[in-house]
Amino acid sequence: MTVETGRLPAEGVQRMFDRIAPVYDAMNRVMTVGLDQRWRKATVRATVRSGDHVLDACCGTGDLARAAWAGGAGHVIGIDFSERMLERARRKVPELEWRQADLLALPFEDASFDSAVVGFGIRNVENLEGGIRELRRVLRPGGRLGILEITTPRGPLAPFYRLWFDRVVPLLGRVLPGGSAYTYLPASVRRFPGPEELATLLGSCGFEAVRFRLFAGGIVALHVGEAN
Ligand SMILES: C[S@@+](CC[C@H](N)C(=O)[O-])C[C@H]1O[C@@H](n2cnc3c(N)ncnc32)[C@H](O)[C@@H]1O
Repeated sequence: MTVETGRLPAEGVQRMFDRIAPVYDAMNRVMTVGLDQRWRKATVRATVRSGDHVLDACCGTGDLARAAWAGGAGHVIGIDFSERMLERARRKVPELEWRQADLLALPFEDASFDSAVVGFGIRNVENLEGGIRELRRVLRPGGRLGILEITTPRGPLAPFYRLWFDRVVPLLGRVLPGGSAYTYLPASVRRFPGPEELATLLGSCGFEAVRFRLFAGGIVALHVGEAN
């Protein structure tokens, strides 16, 4: 199954995150009313085992890598193609390894990681299936992948969610310096597959025991699978 999620080409996404970098952490805290760090910790608990060699793909400013490190990972490498986002990660957690790289062409050997996490990043990758297959390639058999991502709720929260993402978030983006690119966020969420579809895609890309849980009334999904 091929699911193309991006209408912005990769260079457009890279430039957008270079521009967003100065306000990214503040926007995260505001948009999620501070819950994002809790979801990152849950992702680490479900994915990373003590002493693991961990990849944080699309690491951005490094919060998920930092949570993996705090959660007992042995070694953590964060990769991202936005140099401005990486600069912030380096400043925030200098003891971890940070590299500029494209998720679609990871500069690592096959089976070189015990676990991999992606937080709010895979939605922006031009070729979703290609990205998942690349993550599978660098995981050892039995290694775990955790994907934390915004999703579209179906229940009673759906109208509130549309108001929040389609109106409030772009408005917040306009008042914060450099935040205008946040108008891209609602469109990228709408294009992204729902939780069941993403679970099926993971299964067809070499992961087994795939499960997911939803946070905040179904606004955010955490998928975990084991490389087969
Ligand atoms: C919304 S941020 C998420 C940052 C971080 N993972 C977090 O939990 O906050 C998405 C990140 O994905 C990166 N990204 C998008 N496509 C990428 C790709 N193909 N390769 C590497 N990084 C990519 C962007 O540069 C951006 O820093």
